[in-house]
Amino acid sequence: MAEVVIVPTAQEAGGLVADAIAGLIARRPDAVLGLATGSTPLPVYDALRVRLAGADLSRVRGFALDEYVGLDPSHPESYRSVISREVVGPLGLDPALVRVPDGALEGIEHAGEDYEAEIEAVGGIDLQILGIGTDGHIGFNEPGSSFASTTRVKTLTEQTRRDNARFFASIDDVPMHCITQGLGTILRARHLVLLAFGEGKADAVAAAVEGPVSASLPGSAIQLHPHVTVVVDEAAARGLAHADYYRYTYANKPAWQGL
Ligand code: F6R
Repeated sequence: MAEVVIVPTAQEAGGLVADAIAGLIARRPDAVLGLATGSTPLPVYDALRVRLAGADLSRVRGFALDEYVGLDPSHPESYRSVISREVVGPLGLDPALVRVPDGALEGIEHAGEDYEAEIEAVGGIDLQILGIGTDGHIGFNEPGSSFASTTRVKTLTEQTRRDNARFFASIDDVPMHCITQGLGTILRARHLVLLAFGEGKADAVAAAVEGPVSASLPGSAIQLHPHVTVVVDEAAARGLAHADYYRYTYANKPAWQGL
């Protein structure tokens, strides 16, 4: 079962996860991080700026979860731009060691396979940061995605395009296709850290953590992984039937366990 940590604010969640990442990098200076985009991980990246100030990050690697297909990489909302603006620049990572799936139309047929090979070549992802969509997607694995899937092109649902329209001038500007790590790719990372904040995520969080394991709710794939940490605020925890048990467990957690 996933460890569920319920915290008062997104800022506190960011601090907790940043501490875990800083600890990982201290143990493994060549750690491989799986990086999510969107609004959810921003408090983690903010806290990391402080936690990692002065640390040697020259060997830290990163792999983004996904990218829009056909969006110019220099577009401010391409995930290449977002990762560079929110993570690589502020933390001072080596840009050559931080990879984003290639969403260019030319070569898109083998871009997924190439990305999988890159992840495998460095020995896999140590810690994967995840957000969750209101329709239960992780990465851009929309409902119905195979639990065995690897990096490939997917069609975004109308709901996801509507949710992401806030980053674009209008919904018509949100690309229809994306290239995303598969659920199988995500499940191979050694530690999954899923964050969610706000009322709008409560149903998806409850279904992912406590609902039936089903391709119809891709986030439920986390129940198949041996090391998962879910960090949510009170609003996103609203639908959790066992919230009291999660609070009790966390309050009595042995200090040596870490996140
Ligand atoms: C982003 C990603 C998505 C988002 C999800 C939630 O790389 O893979 O799964 O995590 O759409 O988005 P936000 O955080 O903007 O609510």
